[in-house]
Amino acid sequence: MVETANKERVVLAYSGGLDTSVMVKWLQVEKNLDVVAICCNVGQESQDLNWVKQKALDMGAIAAESVDMRNEYAEQVLTKAVAANGLYEGTYPLLSALSRPMISAYMVEAAHQYGATYIAHGCTGKGNDQVRFETSIHAIDPSLNVIAPVREWDLLTREQEMEWAAAHDVPVPTTAAKPYSIDDNLFGRAIECGVLENAWNEPPADIWTMTVSPEEAPDTPTEVVIGFEAGVPVSLDGKKMSMLDLIVKLNKIAGANAYGRIDMIEDRVIGIKSRECYECPASLALINAHKALESMCLDHDTLHYKASVDQKWATLIYDGLWFSPLKNSLDAFIASTQQYVTGEVRAKFYKGTFVVTGRKSDYSLYQEGLATYGDGDLFDRSKSAGWISLHSLPTQTWSKQQGPKHVQSLSEHEVKQFQIGNTATPVPQVPTEKAKVHVVCA
Ligand code: ARG
Repeated sequence: MVETANKERVVLAYSGGLDTSVMVKWLQVEKNLDVVAICCNVGQESQDLNWVKQKALDMGAIAAESVDMRNEYAEQVLTKAVAANGLYEGTYPLLSALSRPMISAYMVEAAHQYGATYIAHGCTGKGNDQVRFETSIHAIDPSLNVIAPVREWDLLTREQEMEWAAAHDVPVPTTAAKPYSIDDNLFGRAIECGVLENAWNEPPADIWTMTVSPEEAPDTPTEVVIGFEAGVPVSLDGKKMSMLDLIVKLNKIAGANAYGRIDMIEDRVIGIKSRECYECPASLALINAHKALESMCLDHDTLHYKASVDQKWATLIYDGLWFSPLKNSLDAFIASTQQYVTGEVRAKFYKGTFVVTGRKSDYSLYQEGLATYGDGDLFDRSKSAGWISLHSLPTQTWSKQQGPKHVQSLSEHEVKQFQIGNTATPVPQVPTEKAKVHVVCA
């Protein structure tokens, strides 16, 4: 352990931006704490992290670290997200939610190492990230105290913050303030605020940096082959590579083909809906390729059951519960399903799309002999009629007992659909003879 001074210490999750730079000073001035600034590299695009570290030291931090977590993030976190097909509300690949637990764990480790009693983060009081940091920190070491300066300080506008910074020798950015709030890492980039807050506004072209627009993308498709072993992506176009290298490469290929943009309304943990834009080239491609292989390698029941587990997993991660008993148990279930998810998926990127064009696996449960309508059919169709009569026994019994009250003719049903779907065209009043098939109404 590093020797503790008289003052209490705080470990700050530091990004180098205006907010956390002001915090380096604010924690010293307002809280009388010694500050240790930690800058975590999880693959964000635009920072010289050594410069960021020096900046913290120049502002009086007693120590500063810049930590390269990219490999660990890819291997220990993102592999799990792919195995779980982790998409919050079926759409968002969880990039911010995935990085916070790992950063929090490192903060706790650093707090122990530096003898700090506090951990500080730069999140606002309105978002999800505060929930993820604090829930993770409390799960690992409940004795540590958390300070969230943005929730406490009165620096409400950027101008006030800049004034405070100038008065306390904090370097003030000379460039115009970015009109968006951005968070990014290997798994993609989140863009919120500014004009995006009006949900009807089309996202301006300048928000995107990892992806080109479909109009700018090449006119010919780019084909890739992604290899998986036990659910983990391990190769690209037949070349073995680390998860980190694979993600970095795939981000480039997919981004150059305009793939991975998302524009959604999302339900935050704290109860509000927010409009979010994301670009997730590699993460979406990996999850979709993985799903394609699972559909070949997992049996019907496991595949269907796992879809609900995946959804719960994504919600837990979104809600900041990476370190929780249920998440651990779901991980164990997911891991056991992945044993035979080994094989290759071929797909084409083309102007914003990613289309799977082939898949193969030594463990495939798709058997051409059973599926074929051609020569070599192994399926015994003589068994079908008997099986169907038992499968439909409950509905046959129901229909005999109660059917007339609950069943309507398809022709009536068609008329209803027609009325809902197309009010401009006259609705046929008399059902035609053709449709006397019976359908069951819910
Ligand atoms: N809404 C996303 C999430 O909660 C993205 C958060 C991005 N954070 C940010 N500071 N812009 O996971």
